[in-house]
Amino acid sequence: MEKIFQFNYTLLDSWKSLSDEHIALVEKAYESMERAYAPYSKFKVGAAAKLSNGTVVLGNNQENIAYPSGLCAERVALFYAGANFPNEEVDVIVIVARGELMPDKQLLSPCGSCRQVMLETENRQSKPMKVILVNQDERTMIINSVQHLLPFGFGTFD
Ligand code: THU
Repeated sequence: MEKIFQFNYTLLDSWKSLSDEHIALVEKAYESMERAYAPYSKFKVGAAAKLSNGTVVLGNNQENIAYPSGLCAERVALFYAGANFPNEEVDVIVIVARGELMPDKQLLSPCGSCRQVMLETENRQSKPMKVILVNQDERTMIINSVQHLLPFGFGTFD
């Protein structure tokens, strides 16, 4: 039997059209991005995750001279959330980035390892986690569940 997997997402011309709550998160993600340690790629990434108790957890990419030892911004933020607020759900994560590694028009989207970690975060909680991706040209995608970024991911429950 042939089946189709489909999902809806929202594409905005600019993150400035987001809700006030989400704009505030984008601004925090950009602040965090500026603190990234990315001397090797010079590609700075920032993440801001809002928890169900209202706490905003920030992360940025942390590189290392032994390249694979570094960690992406999304995982820094989500592991910090898991380490310090293990009982809170993550309502939304905003990801921003800047650097010449990617052309401005290139769609910025999380790497596979970050998707796997985001999926586990979602699976640990009772509701989906929204993912907001902000491109360098300001275009913004709102994705309503990590399931949509990693269909059939390892550990997907149903
Ligand atoms: N990076 C992230 O922080 N998140 C991603 O989803 C993909 C890539 C970082 C890793 C590395 O420090 C730099 O961006 C270039 O790959």
